Amino acid sequence: MLTEAKRRGLADLPPIVSDSLLALIAMVNADPRADKIDVGVGVYRDGEGRTPVMRAVREAEQMLHDQQVSKSYLGGAGDKRFADLLRPVVLGAHPGDERIVGLQTPGGCGALFLALKLIAAANPDARVIMGTPTWPNHPPMTRGARLEIVEYRHYDAATRRVDFAALAEALEAARPGDVALLHGCCHNPTGADLSEEEWRTIVEIVARRGLIPLIDFAYQGFARGLDQDRFGVELMLEACDEVLVTQSCDKNFAVYRDRVGCLFVKAATANNAKFVMTHLLQISREAWSMPPDHGAACVRMVLEDEGLSADWRAELDEMHGRIRMVRERIAASDPRLAFIADQQGMFSMLPLSVEQVKQLRDKHAIYMADSGRANLVGIADRDLDRFCAAVVETMNG
Ligand code: LMR
Repeated sequence: MLTEAKRRGLADLPPIVSDSLLALIAMVNADPRADKIDVGVGVYRDGEGRTPVMRAVREAEQMLHDQQVSKSYLGGAGDKRFADLLRPVVLGAHPGDERIVGLQTPGGCGALFLALKLIAAANPDARVIMGTPTWPNHPPMTRGARLEIVEYRHYDAATRRVDFAALAEALEAARPGDVALLHGCCHNPTGADLSEEEWRTIVEIVARRGLIPLIDFAYQGFARGLDQDRFGVELMLEACDEVLVTQSCDKNFAVYRDRVGCLFVKAATANNAKFVMTHLLQISREAWSMPPDHGAACVRMVLEDEGLSADWRAELDEMHGRIRMVRERIAASDPRLAFIADQQGMFSMLPLSVEQVKQLRDKHAIYMADSGRANLVGIADRDLDRFCAAVVETMNG
């Protein structure tokens, strides 16, 4: 006798815990205390605690408003000139290299989505060699692309540095065709970056083992400077036939909510690159069809204009200067925080337990991720001393 198959539907879905960083944004917003300090999500803030629209971007927006005659579709690749102009900024001088293609994406996250799906389409057996901890969205996105994750320890909490031996060992043990997921600079969440010497060693292993480097490059300009920060990217492009770079303008053009990013893929031949592009267009067509225009158009207009470009670089340098200043100030507040001065970018993992992170939240209205990751540049100048005092008090127990 036939038994009736059980109908499954939306009612069968269990709840899932929201991404920890998104949950943190909601928690900060819900706290009515006026003196709250938000070092949660990775957003640059100036000395006043604001996330301003950058001067050059504001001007470009005005020009766009005055000049744009249509908002009709641009097509799956979005603003092609945006990708062309961004390319030397992100990859360095690789003019006319037809093995490299670039595609506008909704933020760095869109670029990662395309990159992982592309890898899965080419080789579903590829494994992604991923350091821990990493950006909390890396593992679910990788699983979403149905790729296996192989973890290694990126960060040595005792030395507060990259666990280089673990990284090198993991890459040596990888299979040809596996993916080495690396952070281009400003490691998120630890701030622990590779030195130039370490990059050289890693690039040699990746090339020799036939791995595919996937470089998440969301914070260019926030570590040592716009041009210096692509050190690893450039080395990888020179050494490897296949390289994927997921770029984001969200931070270095401060266009967060406009969602501006780009995926660059280097393929072994110009012909392979053409085929890759057809896949990228198909994957993006299935996901968002065509990328949003506004932010990318503004970035393109900044890069097209020499004066605006120079002003953008100058303002980015100012932001970088503030990041260094905040790091130095916090590092000087207690010997146990001295390591913060040696790290790069917006983030550090403070030496705090989950319980201590909660205490900071409850007692001092200071919000950071449970891991102790703090966006150091989220603190306004007026709050820096209070932040340091509260962290030191909490560490003292
Ligand atoms: C972060 O790590 O805080 C940022 O990259 C924002 C995000 O989307 O998680």
